[in-house]
Amino acid sequence: MTDSTRPASKPANPNFSSGPCAKRPGWTVDALKDTPVGRSHRAKIGKTRLEDLINRTRAVLGIPADYRIGIVPGSDTGAVEMAMWSLLGARGIDALAWESFGEGWVTDITKQLKLEDVRVFKAPYGDLPKLSEVDCDRDVVFTWNGTTGGARVPDGDWIKADRKGLTICDATSAVFAMDMPWDKLDVVTWSWQKVLGGEGAHGMLVLSPRAVERLETYKPAWPLPKIFRMTKGGKLIEGIFKGETINTPSMIAVEDQIDALKWAESIGGLKALIARSEANLKAVQTWLDKSDWAANLADDAKVRSCTSICMGIKAPFFTKLSADDQAAAAKKIVTILDKEGVAYDIGAYRDAPSGLRVWGGATVETSDIEKLLPWLDWAFAQVKAEFEPKVA
Ligand SMILES: Cc1ncc(COP(=O)(O)O)c(C=O)c1O
Repeated sequence: MTDSTRPASKPANPNFSSGPCAKRPGWTVDALKDTPVGRSHRAKIGKTRLEDLINRTRAVLGIPADYRIGIVPGSDTGAVEMAMWSLLGARGIDALAWESFGEGWVTDITKQLKLEDVRVFKAPYGDLPKLSEVDCDRDVVFTWNGTTGGARVPDGDWIKADRKGLTICDATSAVFAMDMPWDKLDVVTWSWQKVLGGEGAHGMLVLSPRAVERLETYKPAWPLPKIFRMTKGGKLIEGIFKGETINTPSMIAVEDQIDALKWAESIGGLKALIARSEANLKAVQTWLDKSDWAANLADDAKVRSCTSICMGIKAPFFTKLSADDQAAAAKKIVTILDKEGVAYDIGAYRDAPSGLRVWGGATVETSDIEKLLPWLDWAFAQVKAEFEPKVA
């Protein structure tokens, strides 16, 4: 029997993972063919590539000339931890968490660094803590976009221009898809595999002049491993911010990130990247607004992420299922669409409420999102038929 509800066409690219994210449109492994493989990253040819990556990053993102941009070990996690281990402890801290990654930074601050003057502002998945209560005369640690909860901070208006503390912002799912108010941010980190679809490898670390001043005037009470050390003899190691990486990067990953940045330039830069991502959110949200079974995890339209679009299941039968069955039902949708080759990796993050997460970053084509949506309805109908009788 033919299934008349089965959508006719599939997304051209089924990659909707929230990291590593889809490669840029048109990417092939050919983009890497000029990589200086087998050469030292400290030779002129390697160093030039690393500097090129830094310069293009500054230009595309509009990072102020007096901010340092470094390529550092350990992807985004490495960059955030390097910043926290090097800078925190000088003053009290306000730490914000509304999903798994922010919670991880709170754990680092309270249980690993064991800092005591810490105020933790938490909110459930899909929500944000009250930003108006944050005191920017303390150091502030936060995630711009909560990748696992689908809520982002709407702007930097809550951050004082004349703050005494440093703002340390994990922006890995935000840069290249959202406007970053650089003047309000002292430390910004991200990794290559997110919005531009690069290869996971080194992290990016951006420092404001005030962050550099802290590095040069404050010495933490704990030892710093070599891969976290940004100063020598109380002075910033400027070379790190000119492509002299602390340890060895993958030049293939570097080449790939340069390719991604060139693509960003070719489509019109940051404005175009943001527009692509916002169009993806709009397509999903238009569908969600009409859906009788799915809803954006973020109720407030102002905080809905345009990259990690998280969806809960609101169908009445679903909410009556046991937690295990809810997880199984949501997983089933993911499995069905994976098997069909329609969508890969769209399950909610393991610590998040059961549901779906679709990446809407700039490398994802809106036409592919639009093709995916009827498939979600199609897969849900099958899951409903299987699970609804359990509570009927
Ligand atoms: C907000 C956020 N922080 C940190 C990470 C960890 O990034 P990485 O794997 O690049 O260290 C992720 C990864 O998804 C993330 O989304």
